Amino acid sequence: MAVLSVLKMGTPSLSERSLEVTEFACAKLYDLIIDLKDVLKKEGGVGIAAPQIGVNLRVVIFGFESSVRYPNEKPVPFTVLVNPLITPLTEEKVEDWEGCLSVPGLRGKVPRYQKIRYTGFNEEGERIERTVDNFHARMVQHECDHLDGVLYPERMTNMRDFGFESVLWEKLYGTPYKG
Ligand code: NI
Repeated sequence: MAVLSVLKMGTPSLSERSLEVTEFACAKLYDLIIDLKDVLKKEGGVGIAAPQIGVNLRVVIFGFESSVRYPNEKPVPFTVLVNPLITPLTEEKVEDWEGCLSVPGLRGKVPRYQKIRYTGFNEEGERIERTVDNFHARMVQHECDHLDGVLYPERMTNMRDFGFESVLWEKLYGTPYKG
């Protein structure tokens, strides 16, 4: 079967609140996670949320060993996170650059909590609880925003810090842009 494509900003369903998953360890959830993994791999992303492939359920996956899209970031363990909840552990937010498969070719500087606790479940219904910071925390906040219909440009505070990857890349990552 062909790998699904990612819905892009402007698609109305990306702005909707997604529904809680009520059944774990079932074919529907397993199939969704297979689709998400396939798309994430094809697109070379570090995380993806179910609404991005047209399924408005509260499921995200994320994690990477090394990423071409975020070359300076440390690995994050591959995680399936269902019905996530985030608790900020810092008051202040830190700004850093983000991209999104639904906003292709662009990067923007987004304020996020520096440290969070997140809870949720894996596809078997086993509870996950982690305390994380920096890029891991940023990524989880970004992916979970998708479940509430929020894309990162809506979180930006200065639209001057928004631009094309092809233009910004060398400044952000110190290596030539390869496309
Ligand atoms: Ni995204």
